[in-house]
Amino acid sequence: MPASEPVRRRGAPPFGPEARRHHDRVLASLDDVLSALPSAERGLFEARLARRFEDLFDGLEPVYGRLPGFAGFLERLVRKLARAWVARPDSLKTLDIERDLAPDWFQHESMLGYVFYVERFAGTLAGVHEHLDYLDELGVTYVHLMKVMHSRDGENDGGYAVLDYTRVDPTLGTNAELESLCTELRRRGVSVCVDLVLNHCAREHPWAIEAREGSERHLDYFHTFPDRTLPDAYERTLPEVFPDFAPGNFTHDEALGRWVWTTFNAYQWDLNWSNPEVFLEIVEVMLGLSNLGVEVFRLDAVAFMWKRLGTDSQNQEEVYDLLQALRACSRISTPAVIHKAEAIVSPDDLIRYFGTGRHHGRVSNIAYHNSLMVQYWGALASRDTRLMTHALGEFPRTPHNIAWGTYIRCHDDIGWAVADDDATAVGLDGFAHRSFLSDFYTGAFAGSFAEGEVFQHNPATGDRRVNGSFASLAGIERALAAGDDVALDLAIERVLLGHALIAGFGGLPLIYMGDEIGLPNDAAWADDPAQSGDSRWLHRPAMDWARAARRHDPTSVPGRLFAGLRHILAARRATPQLHAANDSDILATGHPRVFAHVRHHPLGPFLGLYNFTEETQWVRLEVLRAVGLEQPLDRLGSGPRLTDDDHVELPAYGRLWLSG
Ligand code: GLC
Repeated sequence: MPASEPVRRRGAPPFGPEARRHHDRVLASLDDVLSALPSAERGLFEARLARRFEDLFDGLEPVYGRLPGFAGFLERLVRKLARAWVARPDSLKTLDIERDLAPDWFQHESMLGYVFYVERFAGTLAGVHEHLDYLDELGVTYVHLMKVMHSRDGENDGGYAVLDYTRVDPTLGTNAELESLCTELRRRGVSVCVDLVLNHCAREHPWAIEAREGSERHLDYFHTFPDRTLPDAYERTLPEVFPDFAPGNFTHDEALGRWVWTTFNAYQWDLNWSNPEVFLEIVEVMLGLSNLGVEVFRLDAVAFMWKRLGTDSQNQEEVYDLLQALRACSRISTPAVIHKAEAIVSPDDLIRYFGTGRHHGRVSNIAYHNSLMVQYWGALASRDTRLMTHALGEFPRTPHNIAWGTYIRCHDDIGWAVADDDATAVGLDGFAHRSFLSDFYTGAFAGSFAEGEVFQHNPATGDRRVNGSFASLAGIERALAAGDDVALDLAIERVLLGHALIAGFGGLPLIYMGDEIGLPNDAAWADDPAQSGDSRWLHRPAMDWARAARRHDPTSVPGRLFAGLRHILAARRATPQLHAANDSDILATGHPRVFAHVRHHPLGPFLGLYNFTEETQWVRLEVLRAVGLEQPLDRLGSGPRLTDDDHVELPAYGRLWLSG
């Protein structure tokens, strides 16, 4: 080997000469930062930098490489990474090593996520401590705390209009309280996830204030325009996220005398990621929160981070570059930390958030499986699993180092993301089916069991999204109001079907606060003027602790749901096939009312069967045999019940987790 050839660390990706040059230069400039460290720690940082510099460089170079000062930018960035590592508390450095030793920790079948607004769950961060035993009882290993950072007063998009990324919202507590909550949760084996709102900040954020006061530097943190020429040109191909209460994607700011890009609400200013200073600012924020003990970042609305004329300005190549670079920053400086992408986009775009092609496996660790959620609700309404089977069967395969975030409800609305092609493939009309789902879940369809509301009716496209809690959309609210015990039994089974689906599909199941006890819609959601414009508050009620107190009463609704869910979760923990490293293969069994998927594993196959109707269904034993299950056990129950004519039986909304 010629002497000039770079030494390649075993197992590391080949270091390109350009990246090598930058790496060596940057490393040489870190001496003053790293010299304070014991040599083993310094060596660890240097090894991590060497291991991940290529990821960092490959992400940043296509975006910022041609800008003057790129080399200086890289140097400033890596100094930040080194400083954060130096400042990282010892307990978190230990966690880093633990995660290095078990990099698949978030894929494990023992993982269970719980998602809540801190204020709705416990009032304040300090208040959360009082409910940790409750979370333990459910087996929670991950909590997504919502609206943690300081957001603007009044309307704030449920906390997604951030005023200060570095400071906990004063209504919830202090940074020290966030740190102590993270510490206590970590002690209990629970990882904390918080949002990092990447696409926009509040128009009252100091960066925006500076821009309004004439700072050119800060003006460049945003996308602003002197007149409507470019906004109009962009608008020609841009969709509208909130057509109802925030039409258009640009807002005129009087003080600035310019149009500002505001994809979401007028008070949320989109950040200009083509400016490397924005990247540096966000990295600083991310590392600071990581050093308080945050382990997972939910990267909010990432699809929108890069704008390109003539496109919908979503899922642009630069987004994947930037996310890969952000991921590399965490891997170098705070390696216990992982990233979850919130991208509610089509499957082909979605899969790229895990990293495909040159980004393979390097972009995010977790992404929401929006389609699984939509297909659950679709199959439930139509009592037909053919579209679900087809659409999920078409999904691209995922890398092995990721996990889907599987969920049935969250704090957002449900958009009927059913592709026309998929609908056509099973003999449906996409538009008509989406309309049917909106009618069904807002109770407008005769015979519907659901209680929900329309959100963001878009007359241009006919889209009507839906709000409502799991329990209310699944029929619990109506059944209780009608005093109909039979309907109630069915509604409870529908909820448990959903819980079993997200626990058994493979990935990290995310339970939205209250869904373990059947919290209904919040009838008083519009009373607060700061919320009354946004009906997503319908399904963001305060936790009902009196209801939760009935969770051990087997005759009550919360008791039946809580026990049912705990049973599913115990079975999940005991089923190694549910480790997320392998995909679920969707099985087209030909059965129009049962959804089937199989997970292959060295211990033998796992077959999930889910009956989406209120009638008993039977699946041919041949289906089981074809995947290698001769004498299956049901991990969820004592069955399965086999019939004399070679079928396996599923009662109303029944679910079977079969393995050998
Ligand atoms: C994400 C959040 C949603 C918010 C939007 C804009 O989609 O989940 O609640 O409105 O981003 O920040």
